[in-house]
Amino acid sequence: MADKKNILITGGAGFIGSHVVRLFLNKYPNYNIINLDKLTYAGNLMNLKDVENASNYTFEKGDIVDTNYILSLFEKYDFDGVIHLAAETHVDRSITDPLGFVKTNVLGTFNLLNAARIHWKNTEGKLFYHVSTDEVYGALKLNEDTLFTEETPYDPRSPYSAAKASSDHFVRAYWHTYDLPVVLSNCSNNYGSYQFPEKLIPLFINNIKNNKPLPVYGDGLYTRDWLWVVDHARAIDVVYHNGKQGETYNIGGHNEWKNIDLIYLLCDIMDEKLGREVGSARKLITFVKDRPGHDRRYAIDASKIEKDLDWKPSTTFEVGLARTVDWYLENLEWLDNVTSGAYQEYYEKQYTV
Ligand code: NAD
Ligand code: DAU
Repeated sequence: MADKKNILITGGAGFIGSHVVRLFLNKYPNYNIINLDKLTYAGNLMNLKDVENASNYTFEKGDIVDTNYILSLFEKYDFDGVIHLAAETHVDRSITDPLGFVKTNVLGTFNLLNAARIHWKNTEGKLFYHVSTDEVYGALKLNEDTLFTEETPYDPRSPYSAAKASSDHFVRAYWHTYDLPVVLSNCSNNYGSYQFPEKLIPLFINNIKNNKPLPVYGDGLYTRDWLWVVDHARAIDVVYHNGKQGETYNIGGHNEWKNIDLIYLLCDIMDEKLGREVGSARKLITFVKDRPGHDRRYAIDASKIEKDLDWKPSTTFEVGLARTVDWYLENLEWLDNVTSGAYQEYYEKQYTV
């Protein structure tokens, strides 16, 4: 372990985190990747089954809210870098359990920052990377062509985005106050493999497969800017390695879709893949009560990361979405495990015997 850099990735058993862990393990054999995850309902070690035996991979089950545990982890590994993704991430859940979001997203981030500040006496070669969301910028108007830039003032509207905004502010405060070397990114909606089927795309894939209703919130005209998760992981790689300290990078796919148009596209792809009659899935669409405080539109101006760090998305939405549908249909065992809760036994079997 001595010559290798120790990189802490938090939330590595989640959707985006598992893609980041996989990419870093494969691309950087000179890093020891330590994946710290509490394994909440959203954390699933089966997401990393293909890489879990890599010699440069270590899993640590733990809670970022536990101050002493986080301090001891920094002592144990003497991390060179931190890529912080662990969070409570589902907006609907933040409406019913706001305190849980404050604990993990605010206090958890604070614990990591503070441990880094205490432990990194010499910050040469160190970096704390905070992965955040475009939701901190609030909501854009439906039929305008305005975009979120890195200068857009913060205006979070859900308990989730308020907690993420607070954590972003703490990260910047540690840069300004303590010279902690930090970098941040704010990304738009991700889609792809290993996403928990509570989020729009995997939920609807699963419901279509099972002929269950597709609950469309409000008028269905809410708009999101979708990015393939693998492209987000690639962006995290370039920000971590080439981003300028103290800076923020917006990440997005220039790929806005009104929910209802995306749902129509998804329904049609699913009918084709499942060999069902054209129009079958659309019949499952059910308009339901709106999400409280539902943000009308998100759209990212990603020109800074494109220009400064030479990153751009590698795939079109149509290709990425079809590939995503294929993945879920080819991984029905994964889908069944996460919907039944069976995946939560995987850790017990693999790590605690
Ligand atoms: P996710 O919900 O799929 O995974 C979150 C992971 O964090 C899980 O593995 C969970 O077990 C872990 N975790 C939760 N609380 C923890 C705690 N207290 N201690 C340790 N681990 C804990 O999330 P995701 O969609 O992969 O998002 C990852 C990060 O990216 C989050 O910070 C999120 O705000 C940000 N983000 C997500 C999106 C998106 O579209 N999903 C877009 C932009 C930014
Ligand atoms: O913008 C980045 C954010 O994207 C991330 O920071 C969040 O962690 C992630 O959850 C996501 O937030 P959204 O609220 O946009 O994602 P969600 O998949 O929950 O919803 C996408 C859109 O679809 C939103 O307008 C609400 C709508 N929706 C969602 C669900 C789950 C429905 O109409 N019906 C549904 O059942």
